[in-house]
Amino acid sequence: MKLQTIFCSLLYLLSAVFRATADEDSSSRSSIIFTTLGRSDYAFDIYTLPISDRPTTANEIKITDGESVNFNGHFPSPSSSFLSFLLRNQTLIQSPGPQDSRDPPPLQLIYVTERNGTSNIYYDAVYYDTRRNTRSRTALEQHGAEVSTRVQVPLLDLNEVNGGVISMKDKPSLSGEYLIYVSTHENPGTPRTSWAAVYSTELKTGLTRRLTPYGVADFSPAVSPSGKYTAVASYGNKGWDGEVEMLSTDIYIFLTRDGTQRVKIVENGGWPCWVDESTLFFHRKSEEDDWISVYKVILPKTGLVSTESVSIQRVTPPGLHAFTPATSPGNNKFIAVATRRPTSSYRHIELFDLVKNKFIELTRFVSPKTHHLNPFISPDSSRVGYHKCRGGSTREDGNTQLLLENIKSPLPDISLFRFDGSFPSFSPNGDRIAFVEFPGVYVVNSDGSNRRQVYFKNAFSTVWDPVREAVVYTSGGPEFASESSEVDIISINVDDVDGVSAVRRLTTNGKNNAFPSVSPDGKWIVFRSTRTGYKNLYIMDAEGGEGYGLHRLTEGPWSDTMCNWSPDGEWIAFASDRYNPGSGSFEMYLIHPNGTGLRKLIQSGSAGRANHPYFSPDGKSIVFTSDYGGISAEPISTPHQYQPYGEIFKIKLDGSDLKRLTQNSFEDGTPAWGPRFIRPVDVEEVKNEQCAFEDCHWLNEMPNQRDRGAALEPDKVQCGV
Ligand SMILES: *[C@@H]1O[C@H](CO)[C@@H](O)[C@H](O)[C@H]1NC(C)=O
Ligand SMILES: *[C@@H]1O[C@H](CO)[C@@H](O)[C@H](O)[C@H]1NC(C)=O
Ligand SMILES: *[C@@H]1O[C@H](CO)[C@@H](O)[C@H](O)[C@H]1NC(C)=O
Repeated sequence: MKLQTIFCSLLYLLSAVFRATADEDSSSRSSIIFTTLGRSDYAFDIYTLPISDRPTTANEIKITDGESVNFNGHFPSPSSSFLSFLLRNQTLIQSPGPQDSRDPPPLQLIYVTERNGTSNIYYDAVYYDTRRNTRSRTALEQHGAEVSTRVQVPLLDLNEVNGGVISMKDKPSLSGEYLIYVSTHENPGTPRTSWAAVYSTELKTGLTRRLTPYGVADFSPAVSPSGKYTAVASYGNKGWDGEVEMLSTDIYIFLTRDGTQRVKIVENGGWPCWVDESTLFFHRKSEEDDWISVYKVILPKTGLVSTESVSIQRVTPPGLHAFTPATSPGNNKFIAVATRRPTSSYRHIELFDLVKNKFIELTRFVSPKTHHLNPFISPDSSRVGYHKCRGGSTREDGNTQLLLENIKSPLPDISLFRFDGSFPSFSPNGDRIAFVEFPGVYVVNSDGSNRRQVYFKNAFSTVWDPVREAVVYTSGGPEFASESSEVDIISINVDDVDGVSAVRRLTTNGKNNAFPSVSPDGKWIVFRSTRTGYKNLYIMDAEGGEGYGLHRLTEGPWSDTMCNWSPDGEWIAFASDRYNPGSGSFEMYLIHPNGTGLRKLIQSGSAGRANHPYFSPDGKSIVFTSDYGGISAEPISTPHQYQPYGEIFKIKLDGSDLKRLTQNSFEDGTPAWGPRFIRPVDVEEVKNEQCAFEDCHWLNEMPNQRDRGAALEPDKVQCGV
């Protein structure tokens, strides 16, 4: 006993010493901010509508609790042995207390949530009371039933399961005592290759097994009703070729137990789901008419299962896109799908009656002007679930959103935040952030206070002067513009925006000049310019602009862009397509400001991207955005992202120690690295904006509609199927 006490205090002392050392070496503690297209506005919750009743607001129940972003739900089988264990075990959950016997049984849900800076899979059991419908309610409880008690359990202990490494979870299923899900925590070691793999975790023990073979990526897993098989969408050994719209994955099945007996059953298909042990539905874009449609595949009862021995039938007709199908065990009467109809700009959940070959619209009657994603059906076929905006702000209890969303960092000395604004950059001491909204440049304190607009026209890429602390440089003009558009490097004195020379134009040649970065002594600006026809790098006088001194740093018939000057002045990092000009592929390079020492730092595959380099405050590492980790989920299952593969990585200047910092299926970009360690907690901002996001733009394109048949016309409101 005594020995143990001494040992413990020794450990405590040692750790105190290490802590003190870490605190003194402040250069090793810092913060990274980055942007995710639209992500701050998602505010998703999971809802459900009964299938046998009218789809009305009064019948819709919000199942999740309005915290964070909740999506990709799954109704587990109430007979799951793990759930009975969970509901019995008083040490795992608080007892919900005595329930009124007239209340319906609880709704049980498995879903992905991004609370607490990481993604995890949660289980919620919701006891609700339909009889309280008529009672007057607050604006927060405007749905069909009141949730009287909620039992909530995170299902994965991330520290135990994945060694604390953050990961993305796509479409989880509970099968018996096992949770089957996708995670991206294992690096396949090959650039531009997806890290997405299917895992199974035995929930009582935490024992986790990888089901996807090494060297392969799997998406959208679905477990068969008996639990024996799992189906996935996968590129197999082909690898990802850069697709960002409808993926041309194939469908494979394997034994859920250990991933063996893996066999391809369908060429070209995604988002599989099972009705019984030999029947699955999936989606693909029809080769005949280009409509994304649901298909059915039947496996042979005997003999070898292969792409040759299965039979495939189209289920949904041309004339609308129908995708992300959902089934329930043994139900041959209907499936649920998400649709995009030529008559609506919104993605809605509908049933498809397999007997009458008719659609039955659901969510359009409840929330016509909202997108609804990724339906799922309860095991007894009585309910359909989906996720959509909860209507208000990030949190239910006020008009606030997250300005800085804390993301669990794999490196304890670096705090990591998703920032609600584009092209963020830190002031020299890290206490202010400049950023862009289209249009306009803004400045805000890193605690969220004193947000104000400092420039009113369109601009992109911001950077602070390291010496003149109130000066922010930006590229004024249209973003993503052609070589011939006029974009100018301008400087803004953000503490004197009304002053006569608060905004100064530093380039004067009428060409496309952008992505400024300042030398540590504040004397020079490196930027990219099209002044001789190609995007190359130039260095000009920081105070006087190009009229006071200009020289060319790089030269060639390609694009050099997104440059960043190291804090020790020795290097300029930039992205360039010189390896394959015009291909859209960008690699990252380093060059000395005097034009010597050019070398490639990282290339993502032969056609990939490594963009937006930004030096660490100590100058030893670079943070950047890249498709090095490939794609993480079927893009059709998430809101619109131009590049649903952008993740934030860091790398040392010698090319070693590549680390993936973000793991999700969104487009993460424009990182900036500041010298202050910002406490890793969310920073809220007051904002009255409603949850809003765009559906995948490519779904707006409807194929030729001449052949629209009568079968397409949805039934009017219909009860029961
Ligand atoms: C409840 O769960 C804990 C933790 O998994 C376990 O140690 C305990 O034996 C369980 N109790 C019962 C009654 O199952
Ligand atoms: C997760 O965040 C919630 C607030 O969203 C908080 O109440 C809870 O304590 C956090 N849990 C953990 C494990 O940090
Ligand atoms: C160029 O700059 C680098 C880094 O500062 C230096 O090591 C090198 O000697 C310089 N070369 C010339 C030719 O000036």
